[in-house]
Amino acid sequence: MASITIRQLDESLKKLLRLRAARHGRSMEDEARTILRQAAEEAGGEPPETVTPPTAQTTSPQQTDTAPAAQVRRVLLIIGGGIAAYKSLDLIRRLKERRIALRCIITKAGREFVTPLSAGALLGRPVFTDLFDPASEFDVGHIRLARETDLIVVAPATADLIAKMAGGHADDLASAVLLATDKPILLAPAMNPRMWAHRATQRNLAQLVADGVAVVGPNEGEMAEAGERGLGRMAEPLEIAAAVEARLAPQPQPLRGHRMLVTSGPTHEPIDPVRYIANRSSGKQGHAIAAAAAAAGAEVVLVSGPVAIPDPPGVAVVKVESAREMLAAVERALPVDVAIFAAAVADWRVAAAGEQKIKKTAGKAPELALVENPDILATVARRKTGRPRLVVGFAAETEQIEAHARAKLARKGCDWILANDVSPQSGVMGGDRNTIHFITRSAAESWPPQSKDAVAKMLVEHIAAALAGDLA
Ligand code: CTP
Repeated sequence: MASITIRQLDESLKKLLRLRAARHGRSMEDEARTILRQAAEEAGGEPPETVTPPTAQTTSPQQTDTAPAAQVRRVLLIIGGGIAAYKSLDLIRRLKERRIALRCIITKAGREFVTPLSAGALLGRPVFTDLFDPASEFDVGHIRLARETDLIVVAPATADLIAKMAGGHADDLASAVLLATDKPILLAPAMNPRMWAHRATQRNLAQLVADGVAVVGPNEGEMAEAGERGLGRMAEPLEIAAAVEARLAPQPQPLRGHRMLVTSGPTHEPIDPVRYIANRSSGKQGHAIAAAAAAAGAEVVLVSGPVAIPDPPGVAVVKVESAREMLAAVERALPVDVAIFAAAVADWRVAAAGEQKIKKTAGKAPELALVENPDILATVARRKTGRPRLVVGFAAETEQIEAHARAKLARKGCDWILANDVSPQSGVMGGDRNTIHFITRSAAESWPPQSKDAVAKMLVEHIAAALAGDLA
């Protein structure tokens, strides 16, 4: 595709393009490419050679409705080094039949099984091979390869590639792209059954699945090695193509049009400029809820205490330290339709935090007078005006979970409580899994032990159902 020189456009056209690009969160060059691509499609052409610009990573609620302007579905196929690589040539044909705009990387080991020439001929464009190939760096570069796609498919995904992904290696083009991407990834593993069954492979795969990577196959059957049979054959190209279609299908957005507030993480209550009172909350559950709500189309404000985890995509994040700062940020975020209070707010703060570091006096420990912090959940749930339609709290308990949670629901005036056991042996505080007792004013459900991401999805489903029905 010829290069686009924005500078040569006349001023009025440039202004229109600038406005349109800003609205879609794209650069002017990317916006121009999108317009050209749409025009080509309207004229009934093939999906274009040049893959379309990236969907902007949304960072604020105003941007959450940014979506790819056209229906072109983009896949980056990474062919790893295994006998099954020959099936990936058929996969290229199957994906092209489905009018998917395809790019392809072949790893060094993959090139022992299929040549860039054969894959490129089927693809109708050159494949990418080297991390430091000046041609590909000047043309697209590994960061753009990682971003300008809707899905990355690794087929065959060898034991080595899976291990590199799980370990976060980036010493060749394929692994660098897989590390640099924020797009969904689908693996089609293929390897000898013993390599597949090995604890290292299963451990690596479990890590990737926990990170959100999807897997298709492997299947059971004859291996390339004479006399070998078992689990490890790569899924058939048609199966992989079906899994690709399913991953690319538009996800339902039941919370679109709703504004939502989530609190997350601990609070830090200062003792003096260097010391504070805190708790063991990691923020994983609250952040997962914010991410799931954004994925379901909600406009989400996340008010977070100090955490060591990344901001969820598509969410406006307000960072605070203390309970009082959290309350102020929550009140600024109102009005919202739904408010979820997942933060582990410190119940007390030091009455008079020292402005200077408290010095140690031998034999005399300082006495700290504590005062109660505002209850943020109760303050919002009891608002006379502007109360969210649905107010959801958590109950961190170490005993009599349901009874304490029910009492908390009544005391704080919220609509639902998600009660969890936070005793040290439960591993909930800081861990990746949670077991929830879901309590409403009139009912209770016990949810199975599951990942915090799965809890978040289940809560979002309950919220969507409640908003669609009659909340009263
Ligand atoms: N919460 C809040 N503000 C506070 C304390 C708690 O918003 N100052 C919210 C939490 O985010 C959670 C719910 O209230 O949604 C219950 O928190 P929890 O720590 O379980 O209860 P506490 O009110 O602290 O009661 P207790 O310590 O007696 O269990």
